[in-house]
Amino acid sequence: MKLLLALILLLGIQNVNCMNNGLARTPPMGWMDWERFRCNVDCGNDPLNCIGEKLFQQIADHMAKDGYKDAGYEYVCIDDCWMSMERDANGKLYGNSTRFPSGIKALADYVHSKGLLLGIYGDYGTKTCMGYPGSLNHLQVDAQTLTEWGVDYFKMDACHADPTDLNDGFPKFTNFLNMTGSPIVFSTTWPHHQIKHGIKPNYTLIGENCNLWRNYADIQDSWGSVTGIIDYYAKEHDTLAAAQGPGQWNDPDMLIIGDYGLSFDQSKAQMAMWAVFAAPLMMSNDLRTIKADAKEILLNKEVIAVNQDPLGKWEKRVIQKNKVEVWTKELYNKNYATVFLNRRTDGMPYSFSITLADMGYDTALDHYSLRDVFYHKPLGYYGINDTFTATINPSGVVMVTASSN
Ligand code: GLA
Repeated sequence: MKLLLALILLLGIQNVNCMNNGLARTPPMGWMDWERFRCNVDCGNDPLNCIGEKLFQQIADHMAKDGYKDAGYEYVCIDDCWMSMERDANGKLYGNSTRFPSGIKALADYVHSKGLLLGIYGDYGTKTCMGYPGSLNHLQVDAQTLTEWGVDYFKMDACHADPTDLNDGFPKFTNFLNMTGSPIVFSTTWPHHQIKHGIKPNYTLIGENCNLWRNYADIQDSWGSVTGIIDYYAKEHDTLAAAQGPGQWNDPDMLIIGDYGLSFDQSKAQMAMWAVFAAPLMMSNDLRTIKADAKEILLNKEVIAVNQDPLGKWEKRVIQKNKVEVWTKELYNKNYATVFLNRRTDGMPYSFSITLADMGYDTALDHYSLRDVFYHKPLGYYGINDTFTATINPSGVVMVTASSN
């Protein structure tokens, strides 16, 4: 009888398909090559920018020595196009031997030697989005291989996969990851590939099985792409806010600050919005040549602190008026962060006035001290019914934090 009970318990435990890695209690931060470097495999003609071990080593060097690591960016992530086109004789994935001559394990060791962590990419289907080998029918061996290499973060895509299979397939992979016993952050595009095919995502299941997930289209190097994502997040607010919290995050995609498409103000706007979204902060840019103003935005400790707030709460768009949006996020200890996002393009800074109560702050407390987190300066004390005026540049933001202490 006792034996039977033990067996039932054991089977029960094995059937619980839950991410139990204890990771990503705050949104993961790091760097990922895809948006900036895409599937450039031409190391012959473009050795500095192709998807090969040199690029990731150099990025790791810069993350470690230029302040990114100290600011919290820790994952160096390889996206698509790193693999050899075939599996090896044991059915395992391996890196393209011209571009990754030392192998992925050696790259993981290198990244670890800098005090950073390595991320890598795969796909649940038959092929990755760019046509490299997929994990279907190889789920267990691929989970095992990641562990053998010492990979710390895995992004699993869902191109070339049956969208009706994802609710079974991803939890299966989660289980294989759990079975390895190694903690690996698990990132997916699971809901995005369901939504694309008209399937409503089950965010409870998704949240139980991965640490972060993309819901919407790939970010591109433009302000239109950034605002498209913001609009999607505003429209789906209630569903997405309920899905996320410590260990499980909606992923609006990479930061494109430091690339070609955003102005200085738009770059601040992406950073501010990703902070109040509690979004993973994965930069996709060239840290070897990045300009000082973009770097300063990415390293802004006050904005990062809002992103990394331990409550992991989502923002809410509290008001939208005259093409200005006010987004407020509740922080730990009844503090708040508010972003005033100016969607106007009429050429001059726009002044927007609002009471703190209308900004969504707790009316049970009667005073807050406000602080501008881009100018790093206190703005003074405001009563809950006092009016605060933000003067916001076109397609830019003003971002404040409010402390009740
Ligand atoms: C999809 C993903 C991107 C990137 C590419 C790689 O489009 O959404 O983030 O990983 O695949 O091919």
